[in-house]
Amino acid sequence: MYVLEMVNISKEFPGVKALDQVNFKLRKGEIHALCGENGAGKSTLMKVLSGLYPAGTYSGDLLIGGEKKEFHNIVDAEKAGITIIHQELALVKDMTVGENIFLGAEPQRHGVIRWDELYHNAALWLKRVGLNISPNTKIGSLGIGQQQLVEIAKALSKHTQILILDEPTAALTESEVAILMNILNQLRSEGVSCIYISHKMPEVFELADSITVLRDGQTVTTLDRHETNDDQVVSLMVGRELTERYPRVEHTPGEIVLQVKNYNVWHPEKRDQKVIEDVNFTLRKGEILGIAGLMGAGRTELVSSLFGAYEGRATGEVLIEGKPVRIRSVTDAIEAGFALVSEDRKRQGLVMNMDVKTNTTMAAMSKVSKLGVINENEEIRWGLRYVQDLKTKTASLETAVGTLSGGNQQKVVIGKWLMSDPKILIMDEPTRGIDVGAKYEIYHLMNQLVEQGVAIIMISSELPEVLGMSDRILVMSEGEFVREFDWREATQENIMQAATGGK
Ligand SMILES: Nc1ncnc2c1ncn2[C@@H]1O[C@H](COP(=O)(O)OP(=O)(O)OP(=O)(O)O)[C@@H](O)[C@H]1O
Ligand SMILES: [Mg+2]
Repeated sequence: MYVLEMVNISKEFPGVKALDQVNFKLRKGEIHALCGENGAGKSTLMKVLSGLYPAGTYSGDLLIGGEKKEFHNIVDAEKAGITIIHQELALVKDMTVGENIFLGAEPQRHGVIRWDELYHNAALWLKRVGLNISPNTKIGSLGIGQQQLVEIAKALSKHTQILILDEPTAALTESEVAILMNILNQLRSEGVSCIYISHKMPEVFELADSITVLRDGQTVTTLDRHETNDDQVVSLMVGRELTERYPRVEHTPGEIVLQVKNYNVWHPEKRDQKVIEDVNFTLRKGEILGIAGLMGAGRTELVSSLFGAYEGRATGEVLIEGKPVRIRSVTDAIEAGFALVSEDRKRQGLVMNMDVKTNTTMAAMSKVSKLGVINENEEIRWGLRYVQDLKTKTASLETAVGTLSGGNQQKVVIGKWLMSDPKILIMDEPTRGIDVGAKYEIYHLMNQLVEQGVAIIMISSELPEVLGMSDRILVMSEGEFVREFDWREATQENIMQAATGGK
């Protein structure tokens, strides 16, 4: 007996067949992983299911508990017990946790909101998800992981029977991931069904009962977790064998391109508090320097400060090719030869309503314009080049980046910074939300750049990626560099040990 059947679902956007006769069945009390490459149609399928794309904007049938249903909006779907937690979280930042949980469903009497009851109930739901915070807390002051849990509390308060999580762990710390997994296991034992979208295979195999693979908008197959393995799922996703995950090549580092001496960064608001303390390092041409550490170790603060994009004050010396530089803004940084592929593509990377080619050329205008006049042919030429190099899935170069799938947006960010011909390319969680096949393409591209003499700093929370790609690894903890490893001596264990406080 299935709680949900999606039958022959098709959906088109201008120039894209996002879903092509997709079939998907969900059992009661199972965790069902939905896997597929970037742009395969995962999020679109879930938007159909959750009423975000109303009946009539797609073809095919939805059956809930064997009964045909039509949803005209999200509320219809919620009434049928379906809640989605989106890839990009959607809580209202300056409302409290309690207000967010009961937004649009506030307990009322005679048209007056009963705040006592609201906060009392909110506290109970927070407890359910193991969140030890007051329901009066403002959402904006919570980290991503806690916001995620608030979203789940909100879903539970609606007595959800089918919970959809679209890449829920992309921005979570290890301990937050563990909490989330516990909650999902608990929900499963209570009979709640869960659809779980993730590019992280270890997670999928730890959690899921069954796995459905989508490719190019079609269902490839549904497998029982115990009857399959990581390699099989990956090859079904990408349509070929992917034997090697990290294309390591020996690099021969050249001269020093960047020196950072006695670098300190202060918190933008708590002005007597340092977020980076006395950091020293050098970077050579043609090497990949990995920076590992737990979330909150200060890695993003360090690189965004070097890039002129952090509000807190910084002191210390930065030398590029032996010459001291003063970087006060992102423009200064780009001028000096830096590029930063940011972890937060929405805030720092892309203009969502502008098209692919404009976003690609944005940081290298001089290559496509003369005397302030943009040469459209040049724009197209460059745009096309990075779409091809990175295999970005887009209907055209004129497509607004906001309509691309999450992973394909990230590829546009990468293309944009590659085009700026940096001396020093900083990549902060470069493959977050990127599928395994595309990751490989990006690693390959990194190797090519390094061979041309570019120096790369890569921050990553995925240790296999740090270990697989870096020539040297620096470990950060509480704003300081605590260890340095050559890649040959680094292991997951010794990096974790250093990251968790062992100096
Ligand atoms: N609103 C939209 N307008 C136009 N095209 C869209 C829109 N939403 C999705 N698409 C296209 O539909 C296809 C499927 O996108 P979808 O977001 O479902 O992929 P996904 O499997 O979730 O990928 P990812 O892993 O990168 O998140 C993509 O080619 C995407 O560009
Ligand atoms: Mg998606």
